[in-house]
Amino acid sequence: MKKIGVLTSGGDAPGMNAAVRAVVRKAIYHELEVYGVYNGYEGLMEGNIKKMELGSVGDIIQRGGTILYSARSEEFKTDAGQQKAIEQMRKIGIEGLIVIGGDGSFRGAEKLTQKGFPCIGVPGTIDNDIPGTDYTIGFDTALNTIVNAVDKIRDTATSHERTYVIEVMGRDAGDLALWAGLANGAETVIIPEQEESFESVVGKLKRGQERGKKHSIIILAEGVGSGVEYGKRIEEETNMDTRVTVLGHIQRGGSPSGYDRVLASRLGAKAVDLLLDGIGGRMVGIENNIVVDHDISDVLAKKHAVNMNMYKLANQLSI
Ligand code: F6P
Repeated sequence: MKKIGVLTSGGDAPGMNAAVRAVVRKAIYHELEVYGVYNGYEGLMEGNIKKMELGSVGDIIQRGGTILYSARSEEFKTDAGQQKAIEQMRKIGIEGLIVIGGDGSFRGAEKLTQKGFPCIGVPGTIDNDIPGTDYTIGFDTALNTIVNAVDKIRDTATSHERTYVIEVMGRDAGDLALWAGLANGAETVIIPEQEESFESVVGKLKRGQERGKKHSIIILAEGVGSGVEYGKRIEEETNMDTRVTVLGHIQRGGSPSGYDRVLASRLGAKAVDLLLDGIGGRMVGIENNIVVDHDISDVLAKKHAVNMNMYKLANQLSI
């Protein structure tokens, strides 16, 4: 293999730039030519592809977002769209592609590999919802963004003796909510993976109030439903002065944490190693601090499992 491509796709995540940098530098180190694909699969089909040099990825390791931009593409889900993308890469002589993104992006990588074009997936999403890796790039940074935000909310919650519902991202996964719940000492964490009756949440709030608690923090994963609606119900049911904060896209931005930069560097480099060995159709990941790779179709066939021991612990520590 002499020429490879790299793209970022789906929702951006802090650390994607560090992963792009690792891919580009590792590829050049091994005397490969490396091409950046702009705007994800959309740009791939249009041929929005440029050769990258060592300097193309200078000064980006610390930057959030993605210098390659990102997009979600409907056309690429079609057979015709995938053929178009392969033709664009063949025109330039690109023989392998590294896709940095989440499960939606990996479905594209799987399809291209099945059509004879080797792709490697690098998990980049704040949601931490990809099987086959303990962490996805961006999760740690997003978690810390939430932790800092909730600390600030807690200050004002205490001053005004209020109950707060804080809605965090994670699409269908509760990892961000659960980890933040533990890290922030939230009174209640509500995640899509574990049903929690409204009555039991209200009961806990009331018991806390009777014990003289001055405020309560409920962290709600967006996959459970609207934080605004939940907050309204809480106020109606308890008469507690309640406010809602939807953290939103603030969770997707910002400079990546040290952990995410290191993870992105290790996974990006491993993806290049696999292509150099002529291997496609894999996803790289980290398990017990060891860089691993898995069949991308196996990864897509599984469902990410939230750590239920951590969920139990969060409940035990917030009695
Ligand atoms: O997958 C990352 C993520 O931020 C999810 O947590 C969230 O549900 C979704 O993307 C939001 O997508 P968009 O940026 O398209 O609104």
